[in-house]
Amino acid sequence: MYKILLLGSGGREHALAWKIAQSEKVKKLYVAPGNAGTAGLVCKGCTCTPQCVSENVAIKADDFDAIKQFVLDKSIDMVVVGPEDPLVKGIYDYFKQDAQLASIPVIGPSKQGAVMEGSKDFAKAFMQRHNIPTAAYQTFTGETLEEGLRFLETLKAPYVLKADGLCAGKGVLILDTLEEAKHEFKEMLGGMFGGASSRVVIEEFLSGIECSVFVLTDGTNYKILPEAKDYKSIGEGDTRLNTGGMGSVTPVPFATKEWMQKVEDRIIRPTVEGLASEGIDYKGFIFFGLINVDGEPMVIEYNVRMGDPETESVMLRLKSDIVDLFEGVAEGNLNERTIEFDERSAVCVMLVSGGYPCSYDKGFPISGIDEVEGSIVFHAGTALKDDQVVTAGGRVIAVSSYGKDKAEALKKSFQEAQKIAFEKKYFRSDIGADL
Ligand code: AMP
Ligand code: GLY
Repeated sequence: MYKILLLGSGGREHALAWKIAQSEKVKKLYVAPGNAGTAGLVCKGCTCTPQCVSENVAIKADDFDAIKQFVLDKSIDMVVVGPEDPLVKGIYDYFKQDAQLASIPVIGPSKQGAVMEGSKDFAKAFMQRHNIPTAAYQTFTGETLEEGLRFLETLKAPYVLKADGLCAGKGVLILDTLEEAKHEFKEMLGGMFGGASSRVVIEEFLSGIECSVFVLTDGTNYKILPEAKDYKSIGEGDTRLNTGGMGSVTPVPFATKEWMQKVEDRIIRPTVEGLASEGIDYKGFIFFGLINVDGEPMVIEYNVRMGDPETESVMLRLKSDIVDLFEGVAEGNLNERTIEFDERSAVCVMLVSGGYPCSYDKGFPISGIDEVEGSIVFHAGTALKDDQVVTAGGRVIAVSSYGKDKAEALKKSFQEAQKIAFEKKYFRSDIGADL
């Protein structure tokens, strides 16, 4: 029986909280800082009458000292990390190095493991060391700017430039002409993304459809979760600016058994074994951002957490008890746990604030959530103001649904999405249309 603290505040965290609360092994769940949807979830393993419900805690996900105090005060016995920020800042190591916290499992990699997401250059070099298929690349700094410009001349359009460090999903530029690429390359090295672009990865452009594959690992064993496709652009037909993600669909039709076998053999196993062979402590989720190039999977990026909005569909298809899996991670015996999936399709459609991903207003009252039937509403950017749920972010609410196939699930999400209202609500009505 666990008292769990989940860190984060987005739609991904609401979906994780929803799944964790359904575990027979959870007696209490706290979410820090959470959102308007993460409080009040009945904790299934609780034996109190009435049963305990999840609670939000006003602590930021990267305020380690406040987290420590809370964990000790409430005798928390497992911490699950949603977003990358606390991982890249070393929350795992903070726990392991503190005598009072060291025995408490943290689901998420060490700081060294989180560099797989925190540094594109590290991730690319790791893939090269372990023969994991990825685009050809080179990394440059201000000192090697001229060499970078010459390297660009050897490539064909379009050109892919990546800031080495974390840029909240904005650090990748894809340019159509050599002239633009050279200009942006100089801007990046000149501080376009601050320190995050003091090193820039230039890589070969890969053409294909993307797919997100998720793995939970205890450092030796791993379990593969259902794959999903997310929709990053704000505009229909994958046009205009990139967002955090406008919707997701699972399963992905091209991720056949044969394709997933290639993914496991060429990418997943070499990654988990590579981490272990390099002595990198990694107990958590690995998110493989893949692209299908003429039937062959290649890695675009690693993330060290679950995807958002993929989690809002993937959690629907996980039939097994997620806390049992987390326990397997903590105990290093994930191979002894079973993982089962729902054969149905699951999708999520994200309702966002008009203006997102640029500037947008917040604080609009949200109505109609209680009228949704048969879909699951995951809050993302929401808050409670005088007992009223209001918009508090760009991505506001994910409407997630099951269906016997993708079409049925999408129809359901779009239908239920109509019932939820807030000023300047926008969503993409073509989620899943390309699959
Ligand atoms: P990343 O942050 O590395 O996932 O890159 C953001 C997005 O840029 C990806 O989801 C892809 O759509 C695109 N992208 C990144 N690298 C490449 C590449 N080598 N070829 C084509 N598209 C890419
Ligand atoms: N959906 C992409 C991400 O979470 O980074």
